[in-house]
Amino acid sequence: MAKRRIGILTSGGDCPGLNATIRGVVRSCYHLMGADNVEIVGISEGFYGLINNHCKAMNPSDFYGILTRGGTILGTKRTPYKMMQIVEDDDIDKVKQMKQTYNKWELDCLLTLGGNGTHKTANLLSEEGLNIIGLPKTIDNDIWGTDVTFGFHTAVDIGTEVIDRIHTTAHSHSRVMVVEIMGNKAGWLALYTGIAGGSDIVLIPEIPFEPKKVAEIVRMRADDGKPGLVITVAEGAMDKEEALLKRKERAKKRAEAGEVTVTNRIADFVQEEAKIETRAVVPGHMLRGGSPSAYDRILATQFGARAAALVKMGKFGYMVAKKGSDITENKLSDIAGKSRLVDVDGEMVKTARSIGMYFGD
Ligand code: F6P
Repeated sequence: MAKRRIGILTSGGDCPGLNATIRGVVRSCYHLMGADNVEIVGISEGFYGLINNHCKAMNPSDFYGILTRGGTILGTKRTPYKMMQIVEDDDIDKVKQMKQTYNKWELDCLLTLGGNGTHKTANLLSEEGLNIIGLPKTIDNDIWGTDVTFGFHTAVDIGTEVIDRIHTTAHSHSRVMVVEIMGNKAGWLALYTGIAGGSDIVLIPEIPFEPKKVAEIVRMRADDGKPGLVITVAEGAMDKEEALLKRKERAKKRAEAGEVTVTNRIADFVQEEAKIETRAVVPGHMLRGGSPSAYDRILATQFGARAAALVKMGKFGYMVAKKGSDITENKLSDIAGKSRLVDVDGEMVKTARSIGMYFGD
């Protein structure tokens, strides 16, 4: 069997499970094709590394002990898709350079671990004739074509612990605690952590809220004898007025008001209107730090094993995915440029509403 040279890169924000996925791919490749028939080429800092030829041949020992390790042993960077096709003043054609690196290293294929932006670029490279396999990473869980991405459930666990701990202060001080949860344009992470953490109110981008309604609910709960409560706010949440604006207009308006997200505005408004002391808490990047959960280690291993099987079959231009309990794959061209938001009429929102959770709508 001819030696297969397999490139791997991690791109976009880091998240728990990247190393576990790399390990799953590598171990399965060694198992399926024989360790002597496989060479793994690690590309550091995502597509930036591919553009700039930051690559190295990896040894099996480079992958020892990484199942539990957070972050990515390869390093990562955000290289916006929009920049990819722009040829810069000094004549840098990034697509050409990525192809050059791929060819220079005589890669048989390239595995790209990343989120929506990564898969757009992966599809571009696939259309340029490179053999690409994508693996769905993100704490945001917003990748089209897969029920779940690796990293998401670990972030849910971390977010839930944050909310559990915040409940203590909310109840001791009879305060409203407003917790901001990452998730970019999607509300998955806030919705899941809100449900798991027993939040009273969850605000997500898919369901624009009415600020007065939120304050009314808080007041009503206080009048019912529950003054301490937790509001979970997705970082992408927006009120009904803002929802009428385009993303850029909304960002501009917020920038002019000195805001990035809506969280502090909600906290101030609730304190003012409901007359209850309020605090805002932003766990931020803590949500994607550290070791992956058992769920994510297993998912990462399943995704890695499927990607290795695709390498062996020579089936390229796909992203591995989980649908129901099956591990499968989608064409990169079918998922590139799409994202998966919370279904406002879906099971999870119905469940939340049925236990009396408010969305402020
Ligand atoms: O996509 C993952 C994510 O953590 C989002 O939830 C968040 O909006 C973004 O990345 C933060 O990006 P950065 O690490 O570049 O600040």
